[in-house]
Amino acid sequence: MYRTAFVVFALVCSVLAIPQAKVDENIWEKLEQTNNVNVLVTFKKANTKAAYDRFHSLRLTSREATLNAHYSILKDHADVVQADVTAMLRKIAPGKKHYLDVLWISNELIVRDADKEVIDMLRNHPDVDSLIAEKIIPLETVTHGNFSVLDENNIMNQWGVVNVRAPTVWENGNRGENVVIGIIDTGARVTHVALSDTYRGNPGSNHNYNWFAPAGQLPIPTDTHGHGTHVTGSAAATHGLGVAPGARWIACRGCAGAGCADLDLLSCGNWMACPTTTDNQSPNCSLAPRIVNNSWGGGQNNPWYNGIITAWRNVGIVPVFSVGNSGAIFCASVTSPGDQPGVVGVSSISENNQISDFTSIGPGPNVSQKPDVAAPGQDIISASHLYDDELHGLSGSSMAAPHVAGVAALILSNRPYLSVDEVVNALKTGAAPHTPLGRVCFERSDNQRPNFHVGYGRVDAVNSAR
Ligand SMILES: *[C@@H]1O[C@H](CO)[C@@H](O)[C@H](O)[C@H]1NC(C)=O
Ligand SMILES: *[C@@H]1O[C@H](CO)[C@@H](O)[C@H](O)[C@H]1NC(C)=O
Ligand SMILES: *[C@@H]1O[C@H](CO)[C@@H](O)[C@H](O)[C@H]1NC(C)=O
Ligand SMILES: *[C@@H]1O[C@H](CO)[C@@H](O)[C@H](O)[C@H]1NC(C)=O
Repeated sequence: MYRTAFVVFALVCSVLAIPQAKVDENIWEKLEQTNNVNVLVTFKKANTKAAYDRFHSLRLTSREATLNAHYSILKDHADVVQADVTAMLRKIAPGKKHYLDVLWISNELIVRDADKEVIDMLRNHPDVDSLIAEKIIPLETVTHGNFSVLDENNIMNQWGVVNVRAPTVWENGNRGENVVIGIIDTGARVTHVALSDTYRGNPGSNHNYNWFAPAGQLPIPTDTHGHGTHVTGSAAATHGLGVAPGARWIACRGCAGAGCADLDLLSCGNWMACPTTTDNQSPNCSLAPRIVNNSWGGGQNNPWYNGIITAWRNVGIVPVFSVGNSGAIFCASVTSPGDQPGVVGVSSISENNQISDFTSIGPGPNVSQKPDVAAPGQDIISASHLYDDELHGLSGSSMAAPHVAGVAALILSNRPYLSVDEVVNALKTGAAPHTPLGRVCFERSDNQRPNFHVGYGRVDAVNSAR
C-alpha cells in the first residue's frame, strides 16, 4: 500500500518533470578533455525588457544618477531571477572550485570552472533555459614591428599623434584632462614609463575599480601579449605616444591569450558600465569611463555584443571599435562588433593619409555606413609590454581605434556634457579628407563624403575638440 503510493508518486513526478535545459554540445566535448569549464547560463524568465522599461521611465538629470539607476535596476532584477540558482551554486561542497560572475546587463550568469556535477545541477534546475560554451574571438592580427628604447632626452610626438593634430589642442591647455578611457584588451604594462602616470590607479597602485581580469581575477595589471599595452599607449600615454596624455586609463583583460573569450568580453562590458574591485566586489558606478576602446572582433553582421553597446550608450559611454584587418581590396569586409550601428567603427590610414592595405572597409550590413571614421593605424610606435622604457611598432586597425578614443577624450575634456551621439557627430563633422586612391565600393567613390573606405574621413582633434 505504502509502496504503491510511492511508485505512483514517483511516476507522476517523472511525467511532470521539468524538461532539462539545453546544453551546448561543446560543453560535453570540453568536459571529456578537462574537468572544469566556463559556461554561460541563460534564464527562462530573464525578461530584461521589463527592467529596461523601468530604467527608461526615470527622469535622471546627472550622469552619476543615470549610472547608479541603470545598475541597480538591472542588477536587482537579475538577482531576483537568478536567486535560486546562485544560492544553489554558492553552497560549494569541498573540492569544488567554480565561481560566479553575474552579467547584470543581460541577466545571464557566467559560471567559471564548473565541473560535470555542477553542469548537471544547472541543467536540471527549472529556472535555467540553456548552458552555452565559451567561445574564443580572435584578437585582431597585426604585423609586428621592431623594438627600440625610449630616449628620454629626445621625446618626439609620434606620427599618428601629429596626424590627428593632438599637439595643437594640447597647446590650448586640453590634453584630455578629467576624461577616463576604458580599454578592453590583453591588459597593460602599468609600470611602463609612458603609462604609469596616466593610469587612474596611480599614484598608489590602487587597482580596485581601475583593473579587472574576469578570468582568474588577477589583482595586478598584466599584459603577456603586448597588444593591450600598445593600444593603451596610443590613447593615453605620455612621451608623445598617446593622443590624450591628460586623460586617465583603466583596463579590463578581455583577451587573456592570443584571443579573447567571449565570456571575458561580456564580463568586461558589464565592468565598464559599473567598475568593481579586482575581486569583482563592491561596485561603484561613478567610476565608469566615458569612452571604451575595443581592439577585438570577428565575424560579420553579428549582434552578440549589442546588449553591452546599448547599455554603454544608456550611460554615456562612447563605444569605439576597430573594423578589422580583412584587407581594403574587397568591399564589405568590416567585422563585428565594429560593423554594428551603435558603435564608432574605425579603419586605418598610413602616414601619407592613404587607406592601409590591411584594414577592413565598408559598407556594413545592409549597405550601412561603415567605417564611421579613419585614423592612423600603420607603423604605429607605442609602449612595449616587455620593458618599462621600450617602444614597439605595430600595424592594424587596432592601432587606429585608440587614436579615435584619444580624440574623443579631447572632445569630452572640453565639453563634458556632450551625449554619445554628439561626440560621434563631432568626430564625423570634424574629420579631414584622406588621399583618395580612386577606389569604389557599392558605387561610392573614395573621394565622396562619407565613403566606405574612411567613412567621414580621418579624425582631426583641432576640428572636433573645439
Ligand atoms: C626599426 O624601427 C625603426 C623605427 O620605426 C626604423 O627606423 C628601423 O628601420 C626599423 N628597423 C628594422 C630592422 O626594421
Ligand atoms: C565611488 O567613487 C566616488 C569617486 O571616487 C567616490 O566619491 C564615492 O565615495 C565612491 N562611492 C562609494 C560608495 O564608495
Ligand atoms: C540588416 O537587415 C536585416 C534584415 O532586415 C536585419 O535583421 C538586421 O538587423 C540588419 N542589420 C543591420 C546591422 O542593420
Ligand atoms: C581600441 O580599439 C581598437 C579597435 O577595436 C583596438 O584595435 C585597440 O587595441 C584599442 N585600443 C585601446 C587603447 O584599447
